[in-house]
Amino acid sequence: MKGWISRPRTTVAKRLFVKTYGCQMNVYDSARMADVLAPLGYGLADGPEDADMVVLNTCHIREKAAEKVFSELGRLRKLQAAKAQAGGRMILAVAGCVAQAEGEEILRRAPFVDIVLGPQTYHRLPEMVARASRSGGAVLDTEFPAEPKFDFLPEPRAEGSSAFLSVQEGCDKFCTFCVVPYTRGAEYSRSAAAVLAEAAGLAGQGVREITLLGQNVNAWRDDVGRDRDGAGWTLGRLLRALAGVEGVERIRYTTSHPRDMDDDLIAAHADLPQLMPFLHLPVQSGSDRILTAMNRGHDRATYLALVERLKAARPDLALSSDFIVGFPGETDADFADTMALVRQVGFVQTYSFKYSPRPGTPAAAMDGQVPEPVKDRRLAELQALLHDQTVAFNHACVGREMRVLLDRPGRHTGQLVGRSPYMQPVHVKLGGTEAAARLIGRVVPLRIVSVHPNSLEAIPA
Ligand code: 5AD
Ligand code: SF4
Repeated sequence: MKGWISRPRTTVAKRLFVKTYGCQMNVYDSARMADVLAPLGYGLADGPEDADMVVLNTCHIREKAAEKVFSELGRLRKLQAAKAQAGGRMILAVAGCVAQAEGEEILRRAPFVDIVLGPQTYHRLPEMVARASRSGGAVLDTEFPAEPKFDFLPEPRAEGSSAFLSVQEGCDKFCTFCVVPYTRGAEYSRSAAAVLAEAAGLAGQGVREITLLGQNVNAWRDDVGRDRDGAGWTLGRLLRALAGVEGVERIRYTTSHPRDMDDDLIAAHADLPQLMPFLHLPVQSGSDRILTAMNRGHDRATYLALVERLKAARPDLALSSDFIVGFPGETDADFADTMALVRQVGFVQTYSFKYSPRPGTPAAAMDGQVPEPVKDRRLAELQALLHDQTVAFNHACVGREMRVLLDRPGRHTGQLVGRSPYMQPVHVKLGGTEAAARLIGRVVPLRIVSVHPNSLEAIPA
């Protein structure tokens, strides 16, 4: 997924362009970097060509991440040089997980980069920009500082009716294929008070849907409550409190680990109508042997039992997941177990990847690396099945009434586009342009009438 942060042009002294790679957490981080730089006079540029500062917010999760960054930097270097020739300056910053993992290497191979910063230090960006501007030398800050960045960030500026809210970062699970524990560091949770204050601020700006973000969002906890009733807060309790924030009509959270799905969180799915019946719960593989080698900390049966409990709590729940094919040692029989699990559970949206060895992770050094053509074949087979399931689910939605959050105008007069509880884009025609515009930001009941390749068509219910 790629994201571009753009806002309407305003009259500002300087322009910032942020290019985002990777996960939703990076999308959130990019928006916060823009917030942090706004007091310095940075407004958003339409593209790198007219920017005084460009930030690449990078992702390291899969292959060729670093190479992509270096080729993008090559292109930006030309723009930077052209700007310098015209008497101007373009500050170039590399942020995110590639910066964290390969900071020194970036400065060695791309000495024209002004700032390299990891995901935990972007609250210090103004200081880094000042230093880079003063000295002309490069600034590297990939520490894991003692002070959490969240304490230093300004209140987020909301755009539209749906917003991300980062509540947890980092990972202590150490799945053997994954770089996240190394690039994002240990699990860290923001306080319940800080999260609820940010949510209220967003709702006050017109946000109706909040998606709580974390690499292990359901590992979120806050021990403040411990003194009073003996138990700290876990995610279920946070969701209940969030559901009480005025204006918050819809809540989601992602990404969860099956190991951290506790009873209270499952019960929250039964109790909270605001909690959308759609859960991203990565399983990665359906083979016990592979799950063990991945150090996932759960087996196939535990995952299936968890799905049953969730569906019992919320019968209209739909699931999405992540899968990896071709993990070292994966045999045809292991892969068949994954296909069987997919058939048994039925997923409505999924992300599936070929295993890619990441430097420094245990799996990269394991025996039994699977040949690329085998990975290709398995991925194609899995994706065909997952695609069929998505299409079948979309067709099963026809005739159903769904509450849709209308968030933008469509291409045609009076047309609006929104999101279903299951994140499907929904198109609806609602009279004239003005009448339709008044409904933007509202959750309205619609009846699904047909399915397009990438969206649903609805009429007022
Ligand atoms: N190779 C392939 N896929 C990976 N993921 C994480 N690390 C790797 C890797 N080395 C996938 C997992 C994870 C998602 C965010 O990315 O499926 O859930
Ligand atoms: Fe990576 Fe596993 Fe942690 Fe998810 S739980 S971030 S896959 S190590």
